[in-house]
Amino acid sequence: MIPKQARRLRVGVLGAGPIAQYAHLESCAKAGNADLYAICDAAPDLLARIAAAYAPQKTFSDYDAMLADPDLEAVIVATSDAWHVPMSIKALQAGKAVLCEKPIGTTVEEVLALRDAVLASGKILQVGHMKRFDPGLEAAKEFIDRDMGQQLALKAWYCDSTHRYTMTDAVQPLVVTSTQQRKPAGNPKADLRRYFMLAHGSHLVDTARFLCGEITQVRARLAERYGAYCWFVETDFANGTLGHLDLTVAVRMDWHEGFQLYGEHGSIIAKTYNPWYYKSSDVEIFHESDATTRRVLGADGHFFRRQLEAFADSVLTGAPQRGADIEDGLASVRAMAAIAESVRTGEAVAVPTMRGAV
Ligand SMILES: NC(=O)c1ccc[n+]([C@@H]2O[C@H](COP(=O)([O-])OP(=O)(O)OC[C@H]3O[C@@H](n4cnc5c(N)ncnc54)[C@H](O)[C@@H]3O)[C@@H](O)[C@H]2O)c1
Repeated sequence: MIPKQARRLRVGVLGAGPIAQYAHLESCAKAGNADLYAICDAAPDLLARIAAAYAPQKTFSDYDAMLADPDLEAVIVATSDAWHVPMSIKALQAGKAVLCEKPIGTTVEEVLALRDAVLASGKILQVGHMKRFDPGLEAAKEFIDRDMGQQLALKAWYCDSTHRYTMTDAVQPLVVTSTQQRKPAGNPKADLRRYFMLAHGSHLVDTARFLCGEITQVRARLAERYGAYCWFVETDFANGTLGHLDLTVAVRMDWHEGFQLYGEHGSIIAKTYNPWYYKSSDVEIFHESDATTRRVLGADGHFFRRQLEAFADSVLTGAPQRGADIEDGLASVRAMAAIAESVRTGEAVAVPTMRGAV
């Protein structure tokens, strides 16, 4: 196990629902530089059962009460999408750093308001785009930054599988639920186009931006048949790379996620696994210089714990943010909004890119 350091970030997790149970609570317990200081959930029976398993120092049913605790240093917002922005703003205004689940928000407007709050607070906000902490993708990024030279083209795909729940049920712990859990009004799955884009497209767009930088324009087409949705998105990047993104929910086969990227001094081919296997992507990096392919093992594929450790490091030591920041979160939401508009109009849609632009 990773040894606990002397100074550890005191983290409160808002929400004890599935994503907290599958990822964040264990990440806090395992992280070398963070502790699970508190859990907050509106459902008292759920809170009691989860607290019994993870033994935080404190429990809260009221979020404001958790934020009023002077010993709490940071919050992981692990609620449904609709509350990411308001709960993050509250935490920042209470002087806490924030690690918020993806997507950072559901509209460009609300994320702009969050950006104002981040800037006003001077606190760190990291978006839970945990794939950036997949060691395979980290190796790809290192090659891109150091050796790849100019990029030519990216093809990236994220195809959810019809068999995904059978697969995840087999490996995830049985989730604890309660009838008293707080849910946003309305059914987020009422509009499946929007729901799939926010839930899954946010990963695809962030991975594309992580690899190739700012997206400047999209032209998207959507096919809907037999209950499946397929977006093909022609993507322009600011660095001139040609892009093609494929978001399909769900393919009639195994989970299918990865990318290929061609560059001046080499190429990368990546296969990413369903995240709940905690297995690093298989990333084959071909170096033109010695005509050799390298692939890191990435033995530690706990992306969620690794993203928390990077977040805690930034908060505790002032280390530069390695995870997605508010500008990355905003850019992803902008790109997803542009994809939806392009599907609607059939036209190419520009994506505002300037950091700091409104
Ligand atoms: N990073 C990933 O790969 C990944 C995977 C799955 C889900 N997610 C994200 O996780 C989020 C969904 O998480 P979930 O399924 O656990 O959500 P959920 O809605 O099932 O559970 C959230 C919990 O938070 C509690 N809660 C909400 N607001 C509260 C408040 N103000 N005070 C106290 N308690 C409150 C609820 O009672 C509930 O128990 C989504 O944003 C989704 O995008 C991310």
